[in-house]
Amino acid sequence: MSKQRVLTGITTTGTPHLGNYVGAIRPAIRSSEREDAESFYFLADYHALIKCQDPEQVHQSTREIAATWLALGLNTDKAIFYRQSDVPEIPELCWLLTCMAAKGLMNRAHAYKAAVAANQETGEDPDFGVTMGLYSYPVLMAADILMFNAHEVPVGKDQIQHVEMARDIAARFNHHYGEHFVLPEAKVDEHVAVLQGLDGRKMSKSYGNTIPLFLPEKKLKKHINKIKTNLLEPGDPKDPDDSTVFQIWQAFATPEQTEEMRQAFAEGIAWGEAKKQLFELVNDQLGEARERYEALMANPKPIEEVLHAGAEKARERSRPLLQKLREAVGIRPIG
Ligand code: TRP
Repeated sequence: MSKQRVLTGITTTGTPHLGNYVGAIRPAIRSSEREDAESFYFLADYHALIKCQDPEQVHQSTREIAATWLALGLNTDKAIFYRQSDVPEIPELCWLLTCMAAKGLMNRAHAYKAAVAANQETGEDPDFGVTMGLYSYPVLMAADILMFNAHEVPVGKDQIQHVEMARDIAARFNHHYGEHFVLPEAKVDEHVAVLQGLDGRKMSKSYGNTIPLFLPEKKLKKHINKIKTNLLEPGDPKDPDDSTVFQIWQAFATPEQTEEMRQAFAEGIAWGEAKKQLFELVNDQLGEARERYEALMANPKPIEEVLHAGAEKARERSRPLLQKLREAVGIRPIG
C-alpha cells in the first residue's frame, strides 16, 4: 500500500518559541518517524512575504527555523524538508489553481475578513492595506498542499479553513480537468498542548509573551522567572491547573514528574523554587539541541545543503505532476 503523505508548512516570520516546539515542531518530528507515512515539511517563505516586508527579518527567520528543525533532530533522509521558494512548480501550480478558485470563496477567508473588519472599525476603505498576497493566500497554501497530493495536513485550528479551501479548489479542478488531486484533510491534534506565554495568554509572537526556544541558559532562566504568578506565599497550597509554570512543566515532564509537581503545588512549593525546577527541566531537554543550533547558526552552510537536497527530492515529485497538469489544462507543445 502506498504511504500516507503528511505535509505542513512553517511561515518564516519569527523566532521559534517553546509554544511552537511543543505544539508543532516536536509532534512533527515524531510523526516523521512513522513507517506508514511520508512527511513533507517546508519553510513557507513565500507566505512570509504576505505578513512581513522586512527582507532581513524574512531571511533571518528562515535561517533560524531551518536550524531549529535540524538541531532538534529531524531526519532529513526520511522526511522531505525543503524551502517553498526552491520549488518553482509551486507558484506555477498556484496560478493554475487561481484560475479555478472562486473569488467568493476567497471573500470568506478569515485573514482577509479580519483585515476588512479592522478597516471598518477605523472607518477606512474596507480594502485599505490589503494586498493581493493576503487576499489569495489560501490559493498559495492550496498549491503547497496539492503539489504533493498530501493526504494529511497537520495544522492549528486557525488553519483548518485554509485546508478546506484547498479541498474545494482541488475538487473543482478535478471536476473540470479530471482526477489529478487527492482531497487533503486537516489534522488538528487535540492532545498537543497549546502553551501559555509569560502573561498566561496563549504563547504567541503577536502577544509578545513568548519564551524563545534556544535562548542562552541565563536568558532562559530570566524568561522563566518572568512568568506571571499570583501572590501566594511559600507554604500556601497552589492550584496547578491555574498556573502557567505548571502548564509548561507538564509539556516537558514525564507523567511521573507531572504528578510529583502536582503534589509539590498542593504542599505549597514556593514560586521561585517551582520556576527553578522548570528551568532545569527545560534546559536539560533542550541543552544538546541548543548546542547544535548555535553551531548551525554560526556556520549555516550545511543548512543550505540540506535544503537543496530536500528541494531536489521535492522536485522529483512536483516536476512530473506539474507537467501532467499543464497538459491537462491545454498547455502543451504545438504540433
Ligand atoms: N499558513 C500556514 C500558517 O500560517 C503555514 C502554511 C503555508 C501551511 N503553507 C502551508 C501549513 C501548507 C500547512 C500546509 O501556519
